[in-house]
Amino acid sequence: MQIVRGIEEFKRAREALDGSVGFVPTMGALHHGHLSLIKSSKKENDYTVVSIFVNPMQFLPGEDFDAYPRREEADCRICEIAGVDILFLPESSSIYKKDEVKLKAPGYLGYILEGSRRPGHFDGVLQIVMKLFGLVRPSRAYFGKKDAQQLALIRKMVDDFFLPVEIVAEETVREDDGLALSSRNVYLSTEERKRALSISRALKSASRLIMAGELESEKIKKRMYEIMKDIDIEYIQIVDRDFRPLRKVAIRNTIILVAARVGKTRLIDNLWV
Ligand code: PAF
Repeated sequence: MQIVRGIEEFKRAREALDGSVGFVPTMGALHHGHLSLIKSSKKENDYTVVSIFVNPMQFLPGEDFDAYPRREEADCRICEIAGVDILFLPESSSIYKKDEVKLKAPGYLGYILEGSRRPGHFDGVLQIVMKLFGLVRPSRAYFGKKDAQQLALIRKMVDDFFLPVEIVAEETVREDDGLALSSRNVYLSTEERKRALSISRALKSASRLIMAGELESEKIKKRMYEIMKDIDIEYIQIVDRDFRPLRKVAIRNTIILVAARVGKTRLIDNLWV
């Protein structure tokens, strides 16, 4: 595995790859969710590139940019064992210029739900993903369905800018007890982690209700609010794949989205119906 930090060095390493390139962009603190993206990339491409960059532009003032887990040594080992071809670890100063062209997430999709709680967050996500796509020039790029709104915005950017990359979405990976894997789970105390399980329990109960024929969004949400009563719910929303609110669940065209705080930790999770 080549570990590359500089932009020019990366361009040279990329130039030498002759074949399809799968790309897994990450912010590090790699877990099994990232590993499943890497695994798919390796299966479907000649080469796999992983980037680790804690992107300052997608954190709002007061968010956890400084506290975000950084585990470079362990991440390098994980990538090496997983068979990654190039691990790209750029510096912020070489990625961002002083006064540069800025991408802006579209008004609706970029500024509802996560976008309304974290205004500007998706502008920063799109900015870095566009830059990384420009450098990596991947055939396919891999993202988790857990960040459903991010995934939809990246798909839209690829479509709007006619970018020659296929976006591949992978299922959320969970702990045995249901907790969705996230680099931010390390912030949870043992007691908070227990309470956080109500999120996946609520989503499971929504799934059971739907399978039993209950399609009314309000009734499903009510049950979910009850289950999550001991945590600080930011939103529970039932939307279609274009993120328009649904009064009734439409099978194969629905996502149930949850954001909640457990202690100081903000968690998101979802269910694709
Ligand atoms: O999902 C993430 O880890 C980040 O938002 C991404 C896509 C790597 C951009 O910084």
